[in-house]
Amino acid sequence: MAFVSSGYNPDKPMEDRISDIGPRFYKEFLPPVLEKNYGKWVSHEILEPGLLVHEAESGDKVYTVRVGSARLISTELIREACAVAKQYCDGYLRWTTRNNIEFMTTSLESAKALKADLNSRKFDKGSYKFPVGGTGASVSNIVHTQGWIHCHTPATDASGTVKIIMDELFEEFTNMRMPAIVRVAVACCLNMCGACHCSDLAVVGFHRKPPIIDHEYLDNMCEIPLAIASCPTGALKPGKTELEGGKKVNTILVNNDRCMYCGNCYTMCPSLPLSDKEGDGVIIMVGGKVSNRISMPKFSKVAVAFIPNEPPRWPTLAKVCKKIIEVYAAEANKYERLGDWAERIGWESFFKKTELEFTHHLIDDFRDPAYFTWRQSTNFKF
Ligand code: HEM
Ligand code: SF4
Ligand code: SF4
Repeated sequence: MAFVSSGYNPDKPMEDRISDIGPRFYKEFLPPVLEKNYGKWVSHEILEPGLLVHEAESGDKVYTVRVGSARLISTELIREACAVAKQYCDGYLRWTTRNNIEFMTTSLESAKALKADLNSRKFDKGSYKFPVGGTGASVSNIVHTQGWIHCHTPATDASGTVKIIMDELFEEFTNMRMPAIVRVAVACCLNMCGACHCSDLAVVGFHRKPPIIDHEYLDNMCEIPLAIASCPTGALKPGKTELEGGKKVNTILVNNDRCMYCGNCYTMCPSLPLSDKEGDGVIIMVGGKVSNRISMPKFSKVAVAFIPNEPPRWPTLAKVCKKIIEVYAAEANKYERLGDWAERIGWESFFKKTELEFTHHLIDDFRDPAYFTWRQSTNFKF
C-alpha cells in the first residue's frame, strides 16, 4: 500500500507531540447500571456456567455472560464482539484478568438470549468463537505468553500449546464440577511472563543444551560483563579466543557443567543463542495459587521434568495435563486447590496417584534454599 501520513512530521518529530496522557478513565466505559450501583453491591450468584448475577442495594441486577477468547485475536473478531455488545449490551463489554470477554445485561431473558447467540457463533473450521463458561469451580482461560508468534527467547509455543490444552479440557471450561478453580498457565521460557509460578497447573518452555557462542561478533554485539552477571550459576567468564585467520577477540567462555540452560545470558547477549529443535520442550509445574483462601499463596512445583515439543498438537503434553486434572478432580475434597490436595495427601502420594515418574530432576539443587525442600522428617508413606 502506498504511504499514508497520519499528520506526523518526521522533519520536526517533537512538533505537536502529545505525551504522558495515560489511559482513558475506566468510568467512561462503565455500563449505566454499574455506574449507578458502583460500590453498592450486596450479593452475587452463579446461575449456570458462564452466567453470573450481581444484585445491588437498590435492587438493581446485572447479568454477566463470560466467554472464552484466544487472547491473540484479529480486529475482525474484536469487531464481532463489539457488534454483539451493541446488540445486547448498549455497546458495553469488558475483558477479564484471564483474557475472557464479559458481556453484561440487566435482564435474565436477554442474558439467556445472549448466551445462546454467543454459543452459536463458530469459525469456518468449527471452533467456537465465543464459548460461554469459565465461572466457578472450572478450568477458565489459560494465561499465556508470546511463543513463536513474537518473542525471541521461547523454548516452546504459547498459542499452540494453549489451544490443545483448552481443547482437551473444554468440558471443564463449560462446567463447574472441579473441587475448586483450576488455574492453568503457559510461559514459553523460564522468564515466566505471566502466572506459571503461581498456578494450579503450569507449562513452561525449557531448553536442554547450553548456548552456542558466536565468538566472531560477541564483543561487538554484547556488553560482556552484563552477560556474565546474568548467569545464576556462575557458568560464564570473560576470555579471549583466536578466530580462524588468527584474529584475537574478547569473548565469553561457558562452563557447560555449570550451565542449566536458563537462557538469561542470551537475553542479555545476542551472540549466545540456545534454542534447539530436539533439545527444547516443556516442563509441567503444579500446585501454585495466589489467593489467601484457607491456605497461604503457594508457588507451583515441578512435577514433570521434560515433555518434547510436538507441534502442532503436543499430544503428550495434552495427555499429561488431562491426567493430572482428572486425578485431582476425582480425589480432592471440596474447596481444595490442587496444591492444597497434593500437600494434604503428600507429594509421594501425588506422584503415585497421577502415575507421573519421579526423576532426580525434580529434586531442588539451587543454592542454600534447596535444603528446605528435602524431607527432614521420618513422616512419609511407603
Ligand atoms: C520403649 C522405649 C522408648 C520409648 C517409648 C520412647 C519414646 C520416645 C518418644 C515418644 C520420643 C519423642 C519423639 C518426638 O518428639 O517425635 C522420643 C525421643 C527420643 N528418644 Fe526415645 N523412647 C524410648 C527409648 C529410648 C532410648 C532407649 C533412647 C536412648 C538410648 C531414646 C532416645 C531418645 C532421644 C535422643 C529422643 C529425641 C530424638 C529427637 O528429638 O531427635 N529413647 N522417644
Ligand atoms: S515467557 Fe519467555 S519466551 Fe515467552 S514471552 Fe515471556 S520472555 Fe518471551
Ligand atoms: S544459559 Fe543460563 S545457566 Fe547457562 S550460561 Fe547462560 S545464564 Fe548461565
